[in-house]
Amino acid sequence: MTARFARLRRLRASPALRDMMQETQVDLNDLIYPIFIEEGLEDFAPVDSMPGVNRIPEKKLEQAIKEIARAGIRAVMLFGVSHHKDEDGSDSWNPNGLLARMIKRCKDAAPDLVVISDTCFCEYTTHGHCGVVEHGHVHNDHTIENLGRQAVIAARAGADMIAPSAMMDGQIAAIRAALDADGRHELPIMAYSSKFASACYGPFRAAAGSELKGDRKTYQMNPLNAREALRESNEDEAEGADILMVKPALPYLDILHQVRQQSLLPLAAYQVSGEYAMIKFAAMAGAIDEARVVRETIGSIKRAGADLILTYFAMDLAREGF
Ligand code: PBG
Ligand code: ZN
Repeated sequence: MTARFARLRRLRASPALRDMMQETQVDLNDLIYPIFIEEGLEDFAPVDSMPGVNRIPEKKLEQAIKEIARAGIRAVMLFGVSHHKDEDGSDSWNPNGLLARMIKRCKDAAPDLVVISDTCFCEYTTHGHCGVVEHGHVHNDHTIENLGRQAVIAARAGADMIAPSAMMDGQIAAIRAALDADGRHELPIMAYSSKFASACYGPFRAAAGSELKGDRKTYQMNPLNAREALRESNEDEAEGADILMVKPALPYLDILHQVRQQSLLPLAAYQVSGEYAMIKFAAMAGAIDEARVVRETIGSIKRAGADLILTYFAMDLAREGF
C-alpha cells in the first residue's frame, strides 16, 4: 500500500498525451511582425544589434511584403527610418511622406495583410524624442494634436490599425477624436498602454535610426511600477482604446497578468528588440537552443495573458512552425 498522493506524471507519459494536455497554443493569428523601412536605401541593410533583422529599402518593400504575406504572417507593424527629420517630425503627417508611402505600398502589395501604423515621432524628429520639445521638455498637448494628424494621414493611406506609442497623456482620446472627425469611426486603436522606460529598447534605437540623447523617463513608465500600469490601462480603455499593450514582454509578465485580470479588452505584448537580442546572441554563443527558447518565451507570454504578441521572431515561426 502506498500513501495516496497525486500522480501528475500520468498525463506526461507520452508525446501524444503531453500535446493533448497542453493548455496554451500559439499560432500565426497571435503574431504581429514589426518591420523597419528606410527611404533612399539601395539594398537590405542588416541591423548589427539584431542579427537576422534587416532594414528594408523602401524601393524593395513590395517584394518584402509579398514574401511576408506568403509565409503566412497576418499582421505587420511598420517603423519608418526617415531621411526627412525635423523638430516636430512633420514628415510623419505629410501625405507624401515616408509614413504614408510605406502604408500604401504595403496595402498595394498585400491587401489582406493587416497593416498597423506605429504612431509616434521619435523616428521623424531630429532630437529623437517622441513629441514636440519646448524649453527642453516634451510638450504633452501639442504632441497629442500632432499624433491626431499623423493618425489621420496613416488612415487615409490605408492603415488597418493605429498604434500610438508616444506615452503622452490623452493620446488615445485625441487620436480617436481626430479619426472620427475624418469619418474613420471603424478604424481600431491598439494602445501601447503600459510602455516602460526600459533598457531593452537599445537595439531598436539603432535599427530605427533614432537620434535620442538622454532618455524618455518623463513620459515612459518606471519599470518598477505595477499599479501605475493598471491606471494607464484603465485610462486608455476609458479613452476608447480597442486593444491594450504591455511592453516589453518577458520582464513584465506580472503586469500582463494583472491587466488581463482587470480588462476585457484584447491584450497585446511586445517582445522588444533587447529581448530578441538577448536570445539571438546567447544562441550564437552556443549557450542556449534558440528555437526552443523562442517557443518557450512566446508561449509564456501567451500563457501570462497576451492575445497578441509583437515579435521579431514572427517570420522564423511562420517558416518553421511552432
Ligand atoms: C518608439 C518605439 C520604441 C519601440 C517601439 N516604438 C522605442 C523607444 O521607445 O525608444 C521599441 C521596440 C523595440 O525595442 O523592439 N516610440
Ligand atoms: Zn516614440
